[in-house]
Amino acid sequence: MTDFEGRVAIVTGAASGIGAAVARDLAARGAKLVIADFDAAHAGTIAKDIGDAARPFQLDVADPAAVEAMVAFAVSEFGGLHLAVNNAGIGGAPAPVADIRLEDWRRVIDVDLNSVFFCMKYQIPAMLKSGGGSIVNMASILGAVGWGGSAAYVTSKHALLGLTKTAAIDYAAQGIRVNAVGPGFISTPALQENMTDAAIAGLAEKHLLNRLGTPEEVAALTSFLLSDRASFMTGTYYPVDGGYLAR
Ligand code: NAI
Repeated sequence: MTDFEGRVAIVTGAASGIGAAVARDLAARGAKLVIADFDAAHAGTIAKDIGDAARPFQLDVADPAAVEAMVAFAVSEFGGLHLAVNNAGIGGAPAPVADIRLEDWRRVIDVDLNSVFFCMKYQIPAMLKSGGGSIVNMASILGAVGWGGSAAYVTSKHALLGLTKTAAIDYAAQGIRVNAVGPGFISTPALQENMTDAAIAGLAEKHLLNRLGTPEEVAALTSFLLSDRASFMTGTYYPVDGGYLAR
């Protein structure tokens, strides 16, 4: 499994859930990588588990200066940048549109949408210097359909698809592919800790496969899109959703 031998990656939100699974998969396939997360303690644990190929980096992805420093850190630690998974995200407090507090709206848009622009703004020049690259932005099935009480999240994930398409257009000729992945509901710590068993069963039923997905199932698609095996794939949104969007 050497798809990523000699490649350097950044995974944001890599201290937990989907990001941690992606980080482990990339490392297993030969990448060197930065485990970037707000949560320094868990980022350190994941990096230590992976070993010498991984370095933790603490940041708030909503802070453009911190994102710039994250990219500089990857380049100084490993000598370049070829792969990025812009995955850090938050759900936000549930509320119908008219009841969303302004600061909650702004924070979700900052963490889930603006951060991905900041990431690509600094990742792309580093990738161009490294001879090209591949980026996956973590959207959601809620990039394609709505979900009551989550307008800021749904708006961010829909907008990510436009950002992804446009970045793909802007950099295709220079050897950078950009895609978005749209997970269905995935069994991650955030979801398990905040929901009852009955609520999880209700969510599972919304997927044709009648279960939640696993972080490893999202990681498998993400790694494929990052790899040279996906060399004709750019500017598109790929659900990994157990059939959620089929009905
Ligand atoms: P998670 O909560 O398990 O992990 C998210 C990670 O991002 C955490 O380690 C957290 O510390 C980090 N993070 C949050 N805000 C940050 C910030 N401002 N700066 C830096 N790091 C920050 O979440 P999960 O479930 O693994 O989600 C990862 C991505 O996948 C998110 O973008 C989420 O919207 C998306 N997604 C998740 C689904 C699910 O059902 N779990 C479904 C569809 C999409």
